[in-house]
Amino acid sequence: MQGEGGSFMITLSKDLIQITREQDVVTLRNRVKELAVKIGMSLLGQTKLITAASELVRNMLRYAGGGTVTLEVVLGDKVTGVRLTFADEGPGIADIGLAMQDGYTTGKSLGLGLPGAKRLVNEFSITSEVGKGTTVTVIRWKNGL
Ligand SMILES: Nc1ncnc2c1ncn2[C@@H]1O[C@H](COP(=O)(O)OP(=O)(O)O)[C@@H](O)[C@H]1O
Ligand SMILES: [Mg+2]
Repeated sequence: MQGEGGSFMITLSKDLIQITREQDVVTLRNRVKELAVKIGMSLLGQTKLITAASELVRNMLRYAGGGTVTLEVVLGDKVTGVRLTFADEGPGIADIGLAMQDGYTTGKSLGLGLPGAKRLVNEFSITSEVGKGTTVTVIRWKNGL
């Protein structure tokens, strides 16, 4: 399997959570924490990943009415990490460049969710198609800065 930059990456464990209501945010946070602890991520790293996950899952609920989160432990270049994939079939995002800017919101909130989440993880990718949905994938490595 190919990772970012064509580097080798394999999946060590994989799990899926359906997100349909507010309560699922708590479940997701707990599951992310479990995986991060399991691979020996620092407390700071755990907190960053959980914060990013919370923002992304809230977007999924708010703008798309729910979706799925895939949680994986991946092995990259000799180091393990947690990869989270947020997939929804909501309205999509017309201009991803705009959505990634600090302060841009269509929801009358802070507009820091996406750009903030990006800063809290080591790898971030987003794809979206209007009328089809949005997928955001993030990775935090065990030893990530
Ligand atoms: N999953 C999603 N589906 C559709 N639109 C989204 C999704 N996530 C984010 N967006 C759009 O991107 C904008 C910016 O998101 P974000 O940075 O989290 O800020 P906020 O949620 O505070 O508006 C949102 O206002 C919304 O228009
Ligand atoms: Mg948001």
